[in-house]
Amino acid sequence: MNDTPLVELRDVSQIFWVEKPWIGKAKPLYALRNVNLQIPKGSTVGLVGESGCGKSTLGKVILQLTPQASGSVFFAGQDISHWSQKKMRPLRRHMQMIFQDPYSSLHPKRTILQNLQEPFLIHNETENMEEKIYQLLQDVGLDRETLHRYPHELSGGQCQRVCIARAVSLRPDFIVADESVSALDVSIRGQILHLLLELKTKYQLTYLFISHDLAVIEVVSDLVAVMYLGQIVEWTSAKQLFANPLHPYTQLLLEAIPIPIFRPDRRKRHQFIEAELPDPVRMPPGCPFAARCSKVQPRCREMAPTLRNLGTSETPHYVACHEA
Ligand SMILES: Nc1ncnc2c1ncn2[C@@H]1O[C@H](COP(=O)(O)OP(=O)(O)O)[C@@H](O)[C@H]1O
Ligand SMILES: [Mg+2]
Repeated sequence: MNDTPLVELRDVSQIFWVEKPWIGKAKPLYALRNVNLQIPKGSTVGLVGESGCGKSTLGKVILQLTPQASGSVFFAGQDISHWSQKKMRPLRRHMQMIFQDPYSSLHPKRTILQNLQEPFLIHNETENMEEKIYQLLQDVGLDRETLHRYPHELSGGQCQRVCIARAVSLRPDFIVADESVSALDVSIRGQILHLLLELKTKYQLTYLFISHDLAVIEVVSDLVAVMYLGQIVEWTSAKQLFANPLHPYTQLLLEAIPIPIFRPDRRKRHQFIEAELPDPVRMPPGCPFAARCSKVQPRCREMAPTLRNLGTSETPHYVACHEA
């Protein structure tokens, strides 16, 4: 962890201006608030939190698909925060994203072959393209016959395999997998996770693995960041997080893991999080989680807690909670 991280975010905030017609002017929505994160080379960092907490926004900011409002993004030690599209272009092949819905990630009117050729054509790398595509197919567990089909002729799992092949086709260093197994049948989910882990070793990849599902995060991650309303509230090794979750929100998420697909020993507990999320446009002062927290104290509503290391310097365990 002492080497330069492959990806680093420093104090990154992202604001969307949201029209509130009854107020009459746009109000800022903080999709990310002072996020600091390091993704060590060769690791898988899991990013977990409920829908709307800012996970996809974070992924897109890292890839500079939407530049942040403030703060800096480093890739392989370079500050890429203010790079133009033109300057970013050669870097793009090193960073890829795999989305939730594989069908909408592919061209519906093009064959799988045409879809797989696209990245090679865009980056002008057509030498041995055919062989490379055959190799990719083999790596993701599809047969050659698939090449002449159209996306709608494939199952969700097969289609996601194609998207994965496309993402790794130019040998990237870093992949953001954004809810990449969430739309798949439970039986297929495990196979695709297994494939992603296999490719990680084979292609020496670094992943940011985004999911709202802690059961998935647990299987793949070396490190985990827990997000709540645009802020990282806990950040440590996966082992630590699952053995000793310190933030009340993480504890609640763990108790709410609905179906223990990968851990049949862990029984389902019917304790879902029921309170409403606060409106991110009208955030109360203090801790963002205060309204839903069972350990809430008066100071939690007044002063926002910052991340502090309650672990050791060797095994850091950061948590943003006054009561942890
Ligand atoms: N382009 C946008 N314009 C306005 N608000 C947005 C935009 N993208 C995301 N948001 C808002 O930012 C917050 C975080 O969204 P998102 O990053 O998609 O969350 P997640 O991926 O965790 O579900 C949400 O409140 C969402 O409505
Ligand atoms: Mg999302």
